[in-house]
Amino acid sequence: MTPFSADDVVAREAAVMIPVYGQMSFTPKRAAGCDIVTTDGRHILDFYGGHAVAALGYAHPRLTRAISEQSQRLVFQSNAVALDIRASAAEKLISIAPKNLSRAFFVNSGAEANENALKMACMTTGRRKILALTHGFHGRTAAAAAATWNAAESWYGFPSLPFDVDFIPRDDIDAARTMIDSDVAAVILEPVQGIAGAYDLSFDFVAALRQCTRAVDALLIADEVQCGMGRCGKFFAADIYQVEVDILTNAKSLGGGIPCGVVLCTEDISAAMKIGQLGSTFGGGPIAAAAILAVIETIEDENLLHNVRQREAQIRELCVTGPVTSIRGMGLLLGLICDRPAVEVQSALLDHDILTGTSADPNILRLLPPLVLQAEHVVRLANTLSQIAPQT
Ligand SMILES: Cc1ncc(COP(=O)(O)O)c(C=O)c1O
Repeated sequence: MTPFSADDVVAREAAVMIPVYGQMSFTPKRAAGCDIVTTDGRHILDFYGGHAVAALGYAHPRLTRAISEQSQRLVFQSNAVALDIRASAAEKLISIAPKNLSRAFFVNSGAEANENALKMACMTTGRRKILALTHGFHGRTAAAAAATWNAAESWYGFPSLPFDVDFIPRDDIDAARTMIDSDVAAVILEPVQGIAGAYDLSFDFVAALRQCTRAVDALLIADEVQCGMGRCGKFFAADIYQVEVDILTNAKSLGGGIPCGVVLCTEDISAAMKIGQLGSTFGGGPIAAAAILAVIETIEDENLLHNVRQREAQIRELCVTGPVTSIRGMGLLLGLICDRPAVEVQSALLDHDILTGTSADPNILRLLPPLVLQAEHVVRLANTLSQIAPQT
């Protein structure tokens, strides 16, 4: 075994890390664009994006320059002082956000964003009940996990939930009408459910959630941690659904790989917050802010939203082949519905140096590639899928 073989690296991590992750069989050494080079010299085409994080792919010169130049100027100062780069990142985010969301609070991850969004909902409404959707995922911290489908039954881990919670069956408008009452502080939803296997909620259902929450003065929270920041073909899925949400969370692609997250909210909700009620030491740090700015400016300047929509159309046209029977999802958050367990298709693709994701649905292979994905990459995926014989 050479010191840098994948097996060796996997074994070293296994010896010292808490064993909570199932890991893949290769170890990346460097990457550029959508190409991951492994320690043993393989080139892997990335349709997984580090779990929807690598929005600009890898080693994008604009992102690496922004991080590097900011690190030379100022690595860190907390929110105790105002920073030009933080102000610029927040201004830019607000400029692309749904138009009623005019305030930002920076955090470090998706779960932390949802944790704060749920807390803000309870604080501003004075209510203690949260409704989430079946199959939704919001993170592994106390409040985010409490609103995550099935967490309480399987991996929640805390002795009690921080609020009352119930789950609306996804896309069930009648259930939504019955369940959303004046005890409800907020309904939280992923417009396109990521971990569930790129399940895009029906437009009518999302519209009904808005109508019902408005009727009882409850808030609507869009968790766009995975589906936001351009992944669905507009900056935010709420704009595709044409629904005005009160709070929107985003992380993952936001910093292109630099850890960060954000809570966006209305002027009214922001006005209800007092100094000290929210906080995060690292949230909105200068490196994260520089990364956020570079990601958004690059998506705009390179017309990546258009690219997302084009690649989606191409995948829908070419990739229903081999083991794939149909496709769901939106933009570059797609679920390939397979005629066999998705792990088998994932493994066959990886044998051909193509990396994809699975999902909570055993038959759905998930694509969450960089937004810079090229036409030739889709052709390669389609050709490789077509070599995997359909099940008879
Ligand atoms: C929709 C959604 N919300 C929240 C999270 C949690 O994000 P993080 O892992 O950054 O805490 C995830 C993670 O996959 C997610 O997909």
